[in-house]
Amino acid sequence: MSGNTPNILTTANGAPVADDNNSISAGSRGPLTFDNFRLMEKLAHFNRERIPERVVHARGSGAYGTFTLTKDLSDYTIANFLQGEGKETEVFVRFSTVGGGQDSSDYARDPRGFAVKFYTEEGNFDLVGNNTPVFFLRDPSKFPDFVHSQKKNPRTNTPDASAVFEYWANHPQSLHQSTILMSDRGIPASYRHMNGYGSHTLSFWNDQGERVWVKFHLKTDQGIKTLRGSETAGLPAYGAQEDLVNSIDAGDFPSWTVKIQIMTETEARTYRYNPFDLTKVWPHSDFPLIEIGKMELNRNVDNYFAETEQSAFTPSNLVPGVGASPDKMLQARLLAYPDAQRYRVGVNHQQLPVNAPKCPVHHYQRDGAMAGMVKCPVTGHAANQGSGANFFPNDRAAEGAPVPKPSVMEPPMPLEEDAWVGYHESRDEDNFTQAGELFRIMTEDQKNQLAENIAGGLSQASESAQVRMLEQYAAADVDYAARVKKAIEALKA
Ligand code: HEM
Repeated sequence: MSGNTPNILTTANGAPVADDNNSISAGSRGPLTFDNFRLMEKLAHFNRERIPERVVHARGSGAYGTFTLTKDLSDYTIANFLQGEGKETEVFVRFSTVGGGQDSSDYARDPRGFAVKFYTEEGNFDLVGNNTPVFFLRDPSKFPDFVHSQKKNPRTNTPDASAVFEYWANHPQSLHQSTILMSDRGIPASYRHMNGYGSHTLSFWNDQGERVWVKFHLKTDQGIKTLRGSETAGLPAYGAQEDLVNSIDAGDFPSWTVKIQIMTETEARTYRYNPFDLTKVWPHSDFPLIEIGKMELNRNVDNYFAETEQSAFTPSNLVPGVGASPDKMLQARLLAYPDAQRYRVGVNHQQLPVNAPKCPVHHYQRDGAMAGMVKCPVTGHAANQGSGANFFPNDRAAEGAPVPKPSVMEPPMPLEEDAWVGYHESRDEDNFTQAGELFRIMTEDQKNQLAENIAGGLSQASESAQVRMLEQYAAADVDYAARVKKAIEALKA
């Protein structure tokens, strides 16, 4: 007898299956017997097909591609993937909606996640951004409250516009981002037709130990395309997923022009806005966009669950030359994401092919569920580090035991002068100027769309929430408030 050929149906342990349509039973009408362990394997595995969906950004689409550097950045950073024009780095990108579960629609009025994993030669760098340059919060302690208010009502299990506005009425720092969300940009027509933003301030540092602050922007080469709420009604829930897969399959590869803004540490100390406040942009007139590369998506995933669902992006995936910043939101995200992924995918999620770095990984972490899933692509060692030393310091450097590389030490992060540890209230920060500036550059049609989109939800909120929201809009621009008020009255008429 010869062994299995690829077309032989087997159990998970590789044994050929004689009959996959009928269970073993005592007689043709009889009950099942204990030797149905092949049936049990099938049912038991089926029972475990789901992993927890992401607590936010549950619904998404992923694809692979290439980032090509068009401007050498060695003056600013030692980051390996940013050295030398023409340098190419493989990427995996996952787009998502935020609030809806996996059962929701691709066409919600919702920010879109835009997460990019750069598989660099010195580890994975993840830019875990959105299609908006700012966010609803500047303090992470509000993230669970904010998300609860935007997701389903705990009793009815349906979306709750009144809770959405109740939260915003109590939280004016959301105004800039909610203005973007409620504008004509609030529903991208597809993932290909939207920009991406790293949103946070990150840092670059060079071989002289000099640091600059940076923001990443990815500008769609397909052009921005959006939908009005009324246009989404008849669209299939999975339309954006289908659009991405079909365009890549057809060889129509979407691309983005990658740009950065740079601010020096000296400029940051005196700039009129807190450069680490995620509710604010750095105006391009003060910090112009500098083009640094092109990102193209050119390969679909082969298996959605293995690659897209189990992909794990985290802002803490940083590489030498790219660092965090004092942004409080970013600081919290550095801890929150790997924690979520240990729960959602497992403690060894970084060993899965989509998450594993393409460079050698050498450390003293060991074991845990599913340890050893992949081998190092370069050394061929099992990911659980084979028989290598499992403690440090040791006397085994000559045998290849990993040692730290002091040359990649990040320069010390500056703190505010006379910084005091405590709860620092930011309620009185300027929450309105940039929202007003955004409103004023909108066309007449965009202003009206904004007012009507807001009125649809705000009219369902309490009188008190409506009053406080109108005060916020007026603080941004009196015309903004007037238009929203008029749109609400038109709905009541
Ligand atoms: C304190 C603030 C925040 C917290 C605690 C937080 C937490 C989370 C968590 C727990 C996940 C699920 C991760 C997973 O299971 O793999 C997630 C996903 C995500 N978040 Fe956040 N988030 C925050 C703010 C932000 C901001 C400001 C942005 C964008 C600028 C953002 C963009 C994303 C994206 C794109 C994903 C999906 C990544 C993917 O495609 O797998 N989040 N967030």
